[in-house]
Amino acid sequence: MIDDLSELTRAALDSIALATSTDELRRLEHEHLGKDADLMVARRQLGGLPVEQRKDAGQAINAARQLVEQSIHERQIALAADERAAQFDAERLDLTEVATDVAVGHAHIVSQAWEELEDVFLGMGFRVAEGPEVETDWHNFDALNIPPGHPARDGFDTIYVKYGEAGSTLLRTHTSPVQIRTMLAQEPPIHVIAPGRVFRRDTADATHMPVFHQLEGLVIDRDISLADLAGTIEAFTTAYFGAGFSSRLRPNHFPFTEPSAEFDIQRPDGSWLELGGCGMVHPNVLRAGGVDPEQWSGFAFGFGIDRLALMKFGVDDLRELFTNDVRFLSQF
Ligand code: DAH
Repeated sequence: MIDDLSELTRAALDSIALATSTDELRRLEHEHLGKDADLMVARRQLGGLPVEQRKDAGQAINAARQLVEQSIHERQIALAADERAAQFDAERLDLTEVATDVAVGHAHIVSQAWEELEDVFLGMGFRVAEGPEVETDWHNFDALNIPPGHPARDGFDTIYVKYGEAGSTLLRTHTSPVQIRTMLAQEPPIHVIAPGRVFRRDTADATHMPVFHQLEGLVIDRDISLADLAGTIEAFTTAYFGAGFSSRLRPNHFPFTEPSAEFDIQRPDGSWLELGGCGMVHPNVLRAGGVDPEQWSGFAFGFGIDRLALMKFGVDDLRELFTNDVRFLSQF
């Protein structure tokens, strides 16, 4: 039985040395040291040997088993190290590699227009003011000389909010309430613009959205006249649109200004674009803002940012600005 022990051991050691993976090694371990392995079978048969042979045979089998175990253990360490190195190599990330084909996003065209407008007005000496989107009826209407029952209220398709007394809280229908908040918060002179989101109960179509963006302007100082208003609109027009553009004021009516005007922009091809409203701040509005109309006067203006973006980028449907379709937005 023991005759072929050394041969058995050598065969086992050779196959272990040639194993190329830890999986294969596990199979070999089972083959050479498992319950049915020749060595193990021989060990179980020791009891059948004459006593004088039993000890030597037992020692020889144990030595062979230890040899096989040892070589499996060593081979296991070597193979596991190789496999780990191979895995690291396969999963290696080159952090110095520069990606050239990633998609880089950019600001939405309304944001682009908004930021450019801020730049232009900041350059003209204005500051940016803000107000809440959920506004009181008083700031949105009363303080702007639109008392309850005033017909101008009907034109605004107001979305009221269920808060406080019925009709007391709403989603601001325009950025004009920021005029009031600014006057109440700081002493004149005031030179601010207030860009922001406004809301109206409108059905979405090519020229209307229930949510859109406006930019309000307010100047309060001593001896401000209509000429200052016209000059500011003209300076803004050429700064934002370019040298080939000009502006004009057309008489109109707004409750919060007196006199009031609509202002239009003339394109280089001679065509006109109606942009917004403006006028000299009504004395009632100054008073609501805590400003003495005997000492101060001012002008205000307001227009839609979305329409400007549409014109600037040659888009003809307002809804495109709000669907957030990347195929559309990525063109700009
Ligand atoms: N708030 C007006 C609107 O939403 C726009 C406007 C007109 C603002 C005249 C003004 C202004 O400041 O003087 O339709």
